Amino acid sequence: MRAADDGTNSMWGGRFTSGPDAVMEAINASIDVDQRMAKQDIDGSRAHARMLAQQGIISDADAAAIDDGLATVSEEIAQGLLTFQRELEDIHMNVEARLKEIVGEPAGRLHTGRSRNDQVATDFRLWVRDSIDRVDAGLAALIGGLLDRAEEEADTILPGFTHLQPAQPVTLGHHLLAFVEMFSRDRGRFADARKRLNESPLGSAALAGTPYPLDRDMTAQALGFDGPTRNSLDSVSARDFALEYLAAASILATHLSRMAEEMVVWSSAAFGFISFSDAWSTGSSIMPQKRNPDAAELLRAKIGRIFGAFTSLLLTMKGLPLAYSKDMQEDKEVTFLAADAIELSLAAAVGLVGDFRPDREAMRAACLKGHLTATDLADWLVRALGLPFREAHHVTGTLVALADEKGARLDELSLEDLQSVHADITTAVFDVLSVEASVASRQSFGGTAPDRVRAAIEAARSQL
Ligand code: ARG
Repeated sequence: MRAADDGTNSMWGGRFTSGPDAVMEAINASIDVDQRMAKQDIDGSRAHARMLAQQGIISDADAAAIDDGLATVSEEIAQGLLTFQRELEDIHMNVEARLKEIVGEPAGRLHTGRSRNDQVATDFRLWVRDSIDRVDAGLAALIGGLLDRAEEEADTILPGFTHLQPAQPVTLGHHLLAFVEMFSRDRGRFADARKRLNESPLGSAALAGTPYPLDRDMTAQALGFDGPTRNSLDSVSARDFALEYLAAASILATHLSRMAEEMVVWSSAAFGFISFSDAWSTGSSIMPQKRNPDAAELLRAKIGRIFGAFTSLLLTMKGLPLAYSKDMQEDKEVTFLAADAIELSLAAAVGLVGDFRPDREAMRAACLKGHLTATDLADWLVRALGLPFREAHHVTGTLVALADEKGARLDELSLEDLQSVHADITTAVFDVLSVEASVASRQSFGGTAPDRVRAAIEAARSQL
């Protein structure tokens, strides 16, 4: 089945008298990319052949020969023994051509009631579904790792930031649990996309369906789909399953990039909150003292190619007339690139989360700058003295200015200092000015108090 220099074209049979131009072949062939779907292609073909036999469309003997032959092709590919040929365009034609070499005539009956259009749609759905399952496992591992670290750091106190300015003290466990929430929603998005993806286009044929009495339920079930797709035109035209996957991956990548960014910032000398072991650090070729968080930086960067893949496929699909157009062949390269990136990113995230070592003293020391418990003081004025919050805010602001003037922390002001701004303040106020008291008081549901954090960890574990 070689496209040939002998004035014929065996792929397209009688209609063509010559093979393609070299550049035509270069732009048209997808085998360099879609060979990654070999397993899915062979699974789909075996299911299709068994169904054809069950429906009496081909003989049992032919189906058995096809099945055995495809098992051999699968084995050859797994062992790297099959040389893919560009002149055969894609994985579908390469597998079928090899099958023909092995089993002869019955191979020609495999493509009955099927087209490469429903075949590629099926293969690609199966491939994306496999990636979703790997991503889900990666997310589960990442969430599990974060929960373990959150438990260790339930009492560790560090500044919480808004605008990257110190805001209020929080616990590190609580901070890590924020990412557990994001990654749990990511899992939900992938699971949701998987549900819609999980219908079988196989048997839709080129675009209109087929006159053969196929049992599409049977092939759907054999391939682990929930059932067959309902419209043959849509079946071969739809790629929104891949778009949903790439959209979910893009959102996940933004979450990974935010976590990675904090790892970069926190491991900088200026912050000094965390460090990474040698296994997760790199050196500099010129500055011997350097210790760089390259893995976190690359994790931060991967969103570029993942969101790039999403926009690429979105633009490829825009405005395409029904049904199949060759444009859609461009779907796989970017999707595979994004899948590799998101799967590797998850593995790196699991590694980084397990590896970082917190410097608890440095975190606590950072809490002592920036008057992080000013809100606690204002809240005390409301609770103990009955001040309206706006007035309490004003009194506290005056005290912060006074502390700054004296180069002191709020809890280092004397009672006289405090009373110079509001005469009714008592020594009881000192109870709320420590960072420990501040986090312990934040008992509202979803708050940062250590016992809240422990309860949240337990709840998250039981969901995992
Ligand atoms: N390699 C093609 C793709 O990935 C397979 C489908 C080809 N269909 C066709 N009508 N030429 O889209």
